[in-house]
Amino acid sequence: MFEEFRRKEREGWGSKAGQYADHTALITTQAIPTLLAAARVRAGSEVLDICTGPGYAAGAAQAICAHATGVDFAPEMVHTARANFPGCTFVEGDALQLDFEDARFDAAICPFGIFHVTEPSQAISEAHRVLRPGGRYAFSQWCAPAESDFFRITMGAIAKHADMSVADPAPNAFAMSDREACRALMDAMGFRDVEVREVPSVYHAPEGDFFDNIMHLTVRGAMIIELQTDEVVQRIRDEMNSAAREYETEDGIIVPVPSFVVSGRKAASADDA
Ligand SMILES: C[S@@+](CC[C@H](N)C(=O)[O-])C[C@H]1O[C@@H](n2cnc3c(N)ncnc32)[C@H](O)[C@@H]1O
Repeated sequence: MFEEFRRKEREGWGSKAGQYADHTALITTQAIPTLLAAARVRAGSEVLDICTGPGYAAGAAQAICAHATGVDFAPEMVHTARANFPGCTFVEGDALQLDFEDARFDAAICPFGIFHVTEPSQAISEAHRVLRPGGRYAFSQWCAPAESDFFRITMGAIAKHADMSVADPAPNAFAMSDREACRALMDAMGFRDVEVREVPSVYHAPEGDFFDNIMHLTVRGAMIIELQTDEVVQRIRDEMNSAAREYETEDGIIVPVPSFVVSGRKAASADDA
């Protein structure tokens, strides 16, 4: 399902691995302390960082003396992660079919991967499988456009001007922005003590054209924009840049892009309710 979308996600993130530090990481790294705390990562923990990208969460886990393994389906991301954090282990692999034995890890985290996988429930089920009983899982997810100035500006401009009939069929990434849906899914997958922590992250845009920066930062949005005519792209550019001007400060453009972290504990035994 969604095969073309999945192929473009993999290629898209692969092509952005080299520039990730200057763009996407500016916002995703803000959730790392909350993810590590929610998954109870500590010195000596065996941690799996799923959808690791350039490995920042794995590297942060290692910095507090945990043993971190990262997995990502884009080979260029895995190469970048290895170069960034040589003390961690990084492997190429699919979040929907993890190549690890059952009960291998004390903790599993998925920083902003659920937004991108084609089957979030399968990704959560796989995380549950590779955790030891009592182990903790935590994933971060973006808030929906109704709560997020960043996505209101970016997805709003696309929704207003783009011809969506040329876009590849894709899952609704914001379906998992509903905290109650997340809680229900975590319960259904066998997690206990499910908690949600809010992360008030912001996008402090680099210097330069706001639209161009967004094209460097996203894959999903860029995927749709790249299929539009020059005229439509220009309209999207103008709309985004004009909306972003409202967020101009003396330090540059700063737009709220809130996210949250959902976490739970794998039941320690069959009667652990
Ligand atoms: C927004 S990036 C997040 C990277 C990093 N975790 C962070 O927080 O900065 C999403 C990552 O998920 C990876 N990804 C998407 N779908 C995947 C899948 N099914 N299996 C493994 N990795 C996947 C992409 O290659 C990309 O590196």
